[in-house]
Amino acid sequence: MGEIDEAFIQSIEHRPKSTTVDAQGIPVIDLSALNSQHCSSNSSSSMEDLIVQVGEACKNWGFFQVINHGVPSSCREKVEVASRAFFRQPSEEKRKVRRDEANPMGFYDTEHTKNVRDWKQVFDFTVENPTVVPASHEPDDVRLQEIVNQWPDYPPNFRGACEEYTREIEKLAYKLLELISLSLGLPAEKLNGFFKNQTSFMRLNYYPVCPVPHLALGVGRHKDSGALTVLSQDDVGGLEVKRKTDGEWVLVRPTPNAYIINVGDVIQVWSNDKYESVEHRVMVNSERERFSIPFFFNPSHTVMVEPLKELTSKQNPARYKPYNWGKFHTTRNISNFKKLDVENIQI
Ligand code: SIN
Ligand code: FE2
Repeated sequence: MGEIDEAFIQSIEHRPKSTTVDAQGIPVIDLSALNSQHCSSNSSSSMEDLIVQVGEACKNWGFFQVINHGVPSSCREKVEVASRAFFRQPSEEKRKVRRDEANPMGFYDTEHTKNVRDWKQVFDFTVENPTVVPASHEPDDVRLQEIVNQWPDYPPNFRGACEEYTREIEKLAYKLLELISLSLGLPAEKLNGFFKNQTSFMRLNYYPVCPVPHLALGVGRHKDSGALTVLSQDDVGGLEVKRKTDGEWVLVRPTPNAYIINVGDVIQVWSNDKYESVEHRVMVNSERERFSIPFFFNPSHTVMVEPLKELTSKQNPARYKPYNWGKFHTTRNISNFKKLDVENIQI
C-alpha cells in the first residue's frame, strides 16, 4: 500500500468498480416553467407536468438534476474559483479556520463515513448566521449553542462569494421544496414553515488526486439526513447513486450548469416512505482533483419530524416516531457518539 494510510481503504465489497454504469435514467428536469414565479400562482399545464416529473423522480430515484433553475452561472463560478483558491493553500493556512469541538463550522480534512476515512477536504459554513443548535447530545438537555462562521482571509472575496451563492441556492431550494410539496398532493407552502431559523449549511468539498482510487472513496456510501440536498459538481464526475430497482451503483454524469437534487431522511419521514432517501458515494481518481458544493437544506432545530398527517391513514399508518431535528442533527455530527439513524426511529 506504500504510504497510503490504511484508514482510507474500503473493504472489498464497498470498493468502486472499474466499470461504471451510466445513469441515463436519472431524470434531468427543466425548471423553466417556474419562470421565477411562485409555484402556486402558475397553473399552466407545463407546471402540472413539472410537478409530475418531480414526483416520479423522487419516487423512482430519490435523485434528479435540474436545468434552467434560475441560479446565475456567474454566481456559481465565483464561489468555485474562491473554493479552488482556498484549498490550494498550504494546510497551515487552511487550519487557521479549522473546525473544533466548540465550532463545527470551518475547514477539516479528516472525516470518516462508516468508519472508513474519506479522501477529501471540506469547508463548512452555516446559512443562518449565527445559527443555534442544542449544545449537548443528552436527550433532555435543551441548552442552545450559537454557531458563528469562520471566514478565511484568503481569497479576499471568499466570504462575499459564498454568501451571494448561498442566497441564490436557498431560493432554488424553496422552489424545489414547494414542487415536492405539490407532488405529494399538499399545498405548495406546506413545508416552508419548518425552515424558519433553518439549520441548513453549505459545504465546499475538495477531493485531491488519489493514487489508489480503486481502494478509497471521496465519500463512502451514505444517505443525507436533512430534508433536501442541492449539489453542484464540476466536470470531473464521481458521484454514484444506488439504483432502487437493482441496487447497482450508477454514475451521475456531470451536466454543465445543472444542480443535482436529492431527497434526505427528513422528506422520507414526512412522506412516510413515499419518497426515500437514497444511498450515494463519491469516487476519486488518480488524474484529476474534483470539487463539489452541496447545500444541505435542513429544518429548524425545534422541528419535530414525523410523518405528515395528510400522508398517513388507517391503511398507511405512520412508520416513524416523532424526533427532534436539532437533537438528531447534533448527535449525528458528534463523533464518538453513537450515531442515530432514521432506522432507529422506525416504528
Ligand atoms: C456528498 O454526498 O456528501 C458529496 C457529493 C459529491 O461530492 O458529489
Ligand atoms: Fe451526501
